[in-house]
Amino acid sequence: MPGTCFYTSPDFPPALAVGLQQNFGLLATESPRGWYLCWTGDALVLRNTELNKQGDILVDFASGAATYRRKFGGGKSEAIAKAVGLTKKPGLTVVDATAGLGRDALVLASLGAKVTLVERQPAVAALLADGLRRASLDPDLAHWLPERMQLVFAPSQQALTQLPVPDVVYLDPMFPAREKSALVKKEMQAFHQVVGTDEDADALFPLAWQLASKRVVVKRPGYAGFLAGQKPSMQIEGKNNRFDVYVKAALD
Ligand SMILES: C[S@@+](CC[C@H](N)C(=O)[O-])C[C@H]1O[C@@H](n2cnc3c(N)ncnc32)[C@H](O)[C@@H]1O
Repeated sequence: MPGTCFYTSPDFPPALAVGLQQNFGLLATESPRGWYLCWTGDALVLRNTELNKQGDILVDFASGAATYRRKFGGGKSEAIAKAVGLTKKPGLTVVDATAGLGRDALVLASLGAKVTLVERQPAVAALLADGLRRASLDPDLAHWLPERMQLVFAPSQQALTQLPVPDVVYLDPMFPAREKSALVKKEMQAFHQVVGTDEDADALFPLAWQLASKRVVVKRPGYAGFLAGQKPSMQIEGKNNRFDVYVKAALD
């Protein structure tokens, strides 16, 4: 599987190497090929030996883009906030069952939600763990982010049968991209190569519906059909996507 090795450069922190092996089953290598994780001096990043122009992929909750979206991106008027219900109830508990690089989870947490991020791809989960580690050292994030974002490395088929009941389960499985922007396209293509296309995503819907106490929210590209063929209670249009909302009970 791509992205499952990490490059043991001379400066690679030994404790991090042990953690990557023990917590995520990642393998050490001295000669990476294709996708691999490496250490930049302060962050764990994903690179590809064949793609020289491909920028590093990492989880950076303090990046300019993340900070801008958090501070000026629309806050409670963001479509995702409305879909999840944070405009009505800020302290909701959310299981993000397809966490990816944690961007949606960050928006939800910054609006007050307590988010459990579930990710099954070992390299992506390791990037999330490293992003959370750096966030806990960041003066702007340390006082709120770690207590609102918790990582679970597991397939959601398993996690959704074991986690405590949340108010909301949020799903954003991979879908074949059709973005127009060259940059988004490049990043999405890279991410697609690493995680694949989540062919089993339909199976998450019944588990999510069973676990959530208030609602299930599914993020879809505008052109995509409903997850598992299930018609939502309402739809909220975002800038680049739509959110299908399946209401189980009032948020009260
Ligand atoms: C489109 S990305 C999610 C992007 C994310 N919403 C964000 O804002 O960064 C989908 C992610 O869900 C993960 N995923 C898909 N199916 C999963 C499952 N059954 N269990 C856990 N993770 C899953 C994939 O590995 C991938 O990282």
